[in-house]
Amino acid sequence: MEKQLPLRIIFKTMNVLLLGSGGREHALAVKIAQSPCLTKLFIAPGNPGTAECGQNISLNISDFDAIGKFVMENNIEMLVVGPEDPLVKGIADYFNGKPVSVIGPSKKGAALEGSKDFAKDFMTRHGIPTARYESFYKNGLQKGYAFLEKLTPPFVLKADGLAAGKGVIIVDNLSEAKSTLKEMLDGKFGAASNKVVIEEFLRGIEVSVFVLTDGKSYKILPEAKDYKRIGENDCGLNTGGMGAVSPVPFASKTFMDKVEKNIIEPTVRGLQEDGISYKGFIFFGLINCDGAPYVIEYNVRMGDPETEAVMPRLDADILDLFDGVAKGTLDTKQCAIRPETAVTVVIVSGGYPEEYTKGYEIEGISSVTENKVYHAGTTGVHNKIVTSGGRVLAVTALSGNLTSALDSVYDSVQKISFERCYYRRDIGKDLMLFPETV
Ligand code: AMP
Ligand code: GLY
Repeated sequence: MEKQLPLRIIFKTMNVLLLGSGGREHALAVKIAQSPCLTKLFIAPGNPGTAECGQNISLNISDFDAIGKFVMENNIEMLVVGPEDPLVKGIADYFNGKPVSVIGPSKKGAALEGSKDFAKDFMTRHGIPTARYESFYKNGLQKGYAFLEKLTPPFVLKADGLAAGKGVIIVDNLSEAKSTLKEMLDGKFGAASNKVVIEEFLRGIEVSVFVLTDGKSYKILPEAKDYKRIGENDCGLNTGGMGAVSPVPFASKTFMDKVEKNIIEPTVRGLQEDGISYKGFIFFGLINCDGAPYVIEYNVRMGDPETEAVMPRLDADILDLFDGVAKGTLDTKQCAIRPETAVTVVIVSGGYPEEYTKGYEIEGISSVTENKVYHAGTTGVHNKIVTSGGRVLAVTALSGNLTSALDSVYDSVQKISFERCYYRRDIGKDLMLFPETV
């Protein structure tokens, strides 16, 4: 009788360290833990959700020396970076030449997110459609005013550097735009707004497109729509994201073909032409203006909560894809996408995105058996799970169509409770108006 080889002999397996602690990292951890290429997964610092996929490690993700020591001592072969901060600070360059592959771009590549001015200049040089813009330093205040006078409202002002997702200000009238420009250049966002990008306002519907690249070839991952505002019908303050849906019905094949030809291809080619090493995710924040895609922003990581909707639709071994990214052989890898619809609803602390109280006990997580509950801002205290952040949990349903996924996800969300918990009840409702793409 023929003897079957154990999996470990067929696949070369490896130890992986994943950096981050949010819902995005829980979703990545679940996917990585499913891979037959995994020996052991460590997550730093992780959360109670990631602890179910591997071992959480208490490490500061900005302390590259401490991460380097851990990588050496634990024979880590792959380092997957969740959030942008360590990338913008150069974590991939730090590990250059060391026997560990980093999934995440070099510092130069991460400037696509770390500097709006760099990103706009990159897009302009490589003919990638984006809003018309100019950048201003403090000594160019008068020129900034003159540029604002040439634009039609609303006015879009962006701090050049990372500003915890708060650096974009959109105002309706000219005098407010001028005073906002002055405040920003005077340090409203600290050093992040030493330089300010002012750009034309684009009208349309937004969609997030994700790509994994080895710097030469790329795989397009499922696209998603994010719901940024705290209130229903997109009212109120901006948040990190209150929900996500994938696929996005208006991202038709015709539209996505334009995205690939006019945006993805020239971006990857542009990085190569500029000699920028980029091995990781590119998140294209796009706007569909009458069928034409424009780039609103680049991010150099996956989105949160988009990852919680995108990962369940990815029909691929993510570590095999990462291996292709590391070795420059991504074009040889398989990456299929499941046809079902994923809907993610984020449950937040009452008061978020402004002040909120932490430490409330969460009930009902284990009663959700039909769908996936990703931990975002939770912590374990005396065998209980308590709230520890603004965005607390992200619940995802994967189902045959948008209607059934919505029914299912909201059934699950209702089983979970903690004091002052809040979620939007209208995630995906706007998309019901579009015919579903096949
Ligand atoms: P960000 O903080 O970079 O994600 O940007 C916040 C939001 O500002 C985006 O999701 C868009 O809704 C909006 N935005 C940014 N740039 C523009 C633009 N040029 N035209 C219209 N809306 C914009
Ligand atoms: N959900 C938007 C982001 O991750 O930037």
